[in-house]
Parts: sequence; structure tokens; C-alpha cells
Amino acid sequence: MIQEELASPPALQLFRNQTDEICLTLDQQEIIRLKKEKNAILLCHNYQIEPIQQVADYVGDSLGLARQAASTDADIIVFCGVHFMAETAKILNPSKTVLLPDLNAGCSLSDSCPAEQLAEYKAKNPNTFVIAYVNCSAAVKALSNVICTSGNAVEIVNQVPEEKEILFVPDQNLGQWVIGRTGRKMKLWPGSCYAHVLFTKESIERCKMEYPEAPVVAHPECVQTVRDLADEVCSTEKMVHYCKSHPSDTFIILTETGMMHRLTRELPNKAFVAGPTGNCACNDCRFMKMNTVPKLLECLRSLKPEISMKNDLIEKSKRSIERMLEWSK
Ligand code: 13P
Ligand code: SF4
Repeated sequence: MIQEELASPPALQLFRNQTDEICLTLDQQEIIRLKKEKNAILLCHNYQIEPIQQVADYVGDSLGLARQAASTDADIIVFCGVHFMAETAKILNPSKTVLLPDLNAGCSLSDSCPAEQLAEYKAKNPNTFVIAYVNCSAAVKALSNVICTSGNAVEIVNQVPEEKEILFVPDQNLGQWVIGRTGRKMKLWPGSCYAHVLFTKESIERCKMEYPEAPVVAHPECVQTVRDLADEVCSTEKMVHYCKSHPSDTFIILTETGMMHRLTRELPNKAFVAGPTGNCACNDCRFMKMNTVPKLLECLRSLKPEISMKNDLIEKSKRSIERMLEWSK
């Protein structure tokens, strides 16, 4: 894949695939060999760096990754994403070894909803039905009735019985978008993703002026004024399907920059403009970018660092995840 620096201002980055041939490095080849030797599966989120995506067994969104984790028969799951994603894989596979190359790969959105605060809210509002976006800790999942991802949030909310009062945690932007799509009243936890809120109405309007014909595709974690400029709002996996079926050959993509690798690989004849933020042409999530090829290689060699969780927490948090999988078959 090549990145073309275009005239500034505004400084935009256009991503397109130049060649189908991928030449793997020795480290990447060793990762593939170790996976085979240890019967390990490498699950990778769309926001990971390109060299990691190239050696993964599955690359996708949170929903796809949870489904893969629930159905794998590998002995070891190596998760290249952030901590809550690897934790979800462990909850669904307590007897398997689940590895995350860097245990510090957290998530600002997950951090915005501490379990103690949610427990306090529930104590004061005992009849509340809690829907938690999967970007939260296992302790928050244990306090929730059902989990959702950006890929199935509308479907999940539509299945909650009418009489229930819903609290949606932790992403207020996704929650607000779901309210608009379902017409369902929900209380929203005041959390947000530090990266997605960096897109601004002004930065996207500038981008649209340069690419007036390109449809704008935004992640629901973006703020409403930005979502309002989008032709489509959806999860990262649905972005691939939308761009594939749309006749346009160029798209403006408002999400983390790693997504461009997935899009250019799957849609080699199309081009993607990374949505600029107020002060940068790209938008990397610092947590997603903590996983690197050397860390992944070392993790496969030493089978560390491993996600470890108490059985009690696994049991309590599993219910809400399993309910999500049942409700979104
Ligand atoms: P997706 O499930 O749409 O891939 O989103 C995950 C995420 O962390 C978005 O910031
Ligand atoms: Fe969390 Fe935002 Fe990073 Fe996704 S992009 S992992 S929501 S901080």
C-alpha cells in the first residue's frame, strides 16, 4: 500500500493498494511458523498495524472477533487488539491461553466507566436495564444485562422489552446514534473515545470540499455534528461492505487509521481518504498501536503476557456477552 501526501492545506492522506504481492519479513514468517507449531490462532482488530494484519488468521470488528473467539478450536488465542477485546475472548474460552502482546493496550472509553460508579448507579436505580458497549471492563460486563458492539447495537436495543428503563454505557455518542436509529429512550453514560471525538465538523467539511464526490463513512463513536455529515454510519466491518457495494471509487473514512489497511487490501481498486482531525491528517489510537511485530513475536515464543481472570468474574461477565451472541445470531 502507498500513502500519497496531497497538497496542503488541508493535509489529507489518500490510501490505495498498489500491489497484491506482499513480501513478508523474517519476523512475520516466524510468527506464522510459531502459530502453526503451537496451534495458536491470531485474532486481529481492524485498527492494528499493517504487518500484524498481514499475518492474522482473522481481521475484523469487535463483533466478528467475539464470534471467532467463541468458535475457535485452537489451543491458544493471540489477540492483537486492546485489553477488553482479549478479556472477552478469555471470558468465552476460560480454559484456553489468551495472549495480548502488550497488556497496557487499554481503551479510554472503557476507562470512562469504572465498575464502582456503575454499581453505585444501579444501587440507586435498581430497575435499570444496563446495555454495555463491549468497550468496557469485565467488571462492568458483570453488572450489565446485555452487551452490544457497534455492529449490532441497534439490533440489541430493539430487543429490550418496552417497559424497561435503559442505561447505555459507556459511549454517549454511540448511544445517541442508537437512540436516533431505534427511537428508544435511553439514559447515556457520559463516556467517549478520545480518538473518534477528534474529528470535527470543520475538519470534515474541509475534506469534503477537496473530495466533493466521495461518500463519507463514519464510525458511530464520532460526535453528532460529524455523524450528521456522513452518508453512512456503521461499525468497521460494515464499512468494508458499504464501500464494496457502493459505486464510488473514493471514500472519506472517519475512524482509526488502521482501517485503511483492511479497506485497501480488500478493495484494491478503490481509494480511501483518512478523515483529518482538527490538527492531524490521520487518527491513530495510541492503545491499538501498542502491539508491534517484535512484541507479537516474543509473545508467541514465551506465551506471555497472558490474560488471567478470576473464575467468579468470568462467570458473572459471561452471561451478558452470551446474551448478546444469542440476540444477534
Ligand atoms: P468496531 O467494533 O466497529 O471495530 O469498533 C471497535 C472500536 O474500538 C472502535 O473504536
Ligand atoms: Fe478505545 Fe477509542 Fe482506541 Fe477504540 S479507538 S480502542 S474506543 S480508545
